Amino acid sequence: MHLNPMVELLRKARAGGYAVPSFCVWGSASIAVVRRTANRLKAPVIIMTSSFELKFFSPAEIARMAKAEEFESPAALLLDHGDSPELVHACIDAGYTSVMLDYSLRPFNENAGALREVARSAHPLGITVEGELGHVGKANSSAAEGDASSTLTDPDAAARIVAETGIDALAVSIGNAHGQYFRLPRFDFERLEMISKALPGFPLVLHGGSGTPELDLKKAISLGISKVNVATELVQAFKKSLLSQWNTEPVPWMPVSIAEATEAMVPVVEKWIRLTGAAGKG
Ligand code: 13P
Repeated sequence: MHLNPMVELLRKARAGGYAVPSFCVWGSASIAVVRRTANRLKAPVIIMTSSFELKFFSPAEIARMAKAEEFESPAALLLDHGDSPELVHACIDAGYTSVMLDYSLRPFNENAGALREVARSAHPLGITVEGELGHVGKANSSAAEGDASSTLTDPDAAARIVAETGIDALAVSIGNAHGQYFRLPRFDFERLEMISKALPGFPLVLHGGSGTPELDLKKAISLGISKVNVATELVQAFKKSLLSQWNTEPVPWMPVSIAEATEAMVPVVEKWIRLTGAAGKG
């Protein structure tokens, strides 16, 4: 089944004032949950794997699983947080339609240089490239803005990295963080607005979607966020189901138990398709 380059979905979303949800997947069952829910809600979606998930399946295996699914609306397959050009190229060779190289912890010139190289080889193949500037860290109990590695995105530098590299989407750090928020995030909307003004019409990405309050999410989308990444809430739903099932003796028959835990992710996928405004946009 045909998968689309992510930029096609994001440009439409940016122009239409909604965002496309991007879901972390780790095998055929989780991909099927996203596909079924997206088809029911007629929504464009992105499915993504990072180097964590790619420890268990190769890029070729994930690409095969994704292509076996019948997405009725546009869908993209993304390498999330690619940590090396080698992994980026492995995913391109395997049939991913989109790749992120995350060098956000490295100096600007190194980040820009590496993204420029990726864009140079990916674009002739019609593959979308995402970069990150400023670093989105992990939520922790001591700081609403993420861990000590978090740095906010500078609007001028954001415009510069897009101009210098030709990338198609940029992940921004505006007080968002990966993982479970221990306190509600405080987004720097003024900064997001400045980034948006410096990059008119350009798709911006919000990592760390899980736990974002609805009003903050909607405001961020109105200010240019066109893609929202979600992982932790899926894993939490899966885990909660397993723990409640395994609270009994004897534990349920394993294949049924895993299938039930997988099914528990459906409401999460539905929630994010609706919150981002992607429902009916496929
Ligand atoms: P969450 O786990 O906080 O939803 O973040 C997902 C993410 O941004 C993956 O890149």
